[in-house]
Amino acid sequence: MQVEGSVFAVTGGASGLGLATARRLIDGGATVALIDLPGSDGEAAASDLGERALFTPGDVTDEVGFAAALATAATRGPLRGVVHCAGAGRRLRLLDKEGNPGSLEDFEFVIRLNLIGSFNALRLGAAEMAKHEPVAGERGAVVLTASVAAYEGQIGQIPYTASKAGIVGMTITAARDLASKGIRVCTIAPGIMDTPLLARLRDDVREGLAASVPNPQRLGTPDEYGQLAVHILENAYLNGETIRLDGALRMAPR
Ligand SMILES: NC(=O)c1ccc[n+]([C@@H]2O[C@H](COP(=O)([O-])OP(=O)(O)OC[C@H]3O[C@@H](n4cnc5c(N)ncnc54)[C@H](O)[C@@H]3O)[C@@H](O)[C@H]2O)c1
Repeated sequence: MQVEGSVFAVTGGASGLGLATARRLIDGGATVALIDLPGSDGEAAASDLGERALFTPGDVTDEVGFAAALATAATRGPLRGVVHCAGAGRRLRLLDKEGNPGSLEDFEFVIRLNLIGSFNALRLGAAEMAKHEPVAGERGAVVLTASVAAYEGQIGQIPYTASKAGIVGMTITAARDLASKGIRVCTIAPGIMDTPLLARLRDDVREGLAASVPNPQRLGTPDEYGQLAVHILENAYLNGETIRLDGALRMAPR
């Protein structure tokens, strides 16, 4: 897929990995719709990125709102790709210190945001991309975002792990499902990336996290995620695969 001159949607595009991906796509000559919550920094981010960026507010878990945000993106030209970064975690133990069972509501919140949000991004993104004629044999591509927690979830990450493992599991199925439409699906499973979430941690905590990464011994940069996301969009033979982006990190139990 050619990035230059194409239109892409980046969910969670107001911050962190999504914003870095949007910047890479803009630098490559694309038009990018940042889809993020209405209260996010999306407006400021889009104006910072320039004329080929637009902020289209939408909640990825909402059928109508997210479809409308994609439709707004498509006013700039045929949608050729979705990079889906919107997501978050919520700490939860199966039993708390007093032996009370963990909150079903918190589990559902994370599954809804990360897993159902990814399904919504896939189905509505694919519907938009399938409207157009293929270019060089393909109609589009979707990049989903899992986490290394899909494989080695730490204590307290049970909803996050379940949601991200679901995304890893969906990847090959979605790629097969959309093959006849000429739409590819891949997933990136990041390790510990230096996004605004981690910037809030104390320096010694950040240093401890960095030291746990074998090589290179540091946090990943959002731009390294953006670089891989753009490569996946560009490389027509990458499909149905989850790629770890983690400096060989394997998370310990806690
Ligand atoms: N940062 C890391 O170390 C790391 C590691 C592994 C996986 N991830 C995953 O990468 C993705 C991006 O993480 P990040 O670190 O860039 O986070 P971030 O908090 O910097 O950005 C996430 C963005 O998603 C938006 N968002 C949240 N809920 C939304 C919704 N319902 N609809 C639309 N937008 C919504 C937020 O407003 C925010 O702008 C997440 O899925 C996260 O689980 C991050």
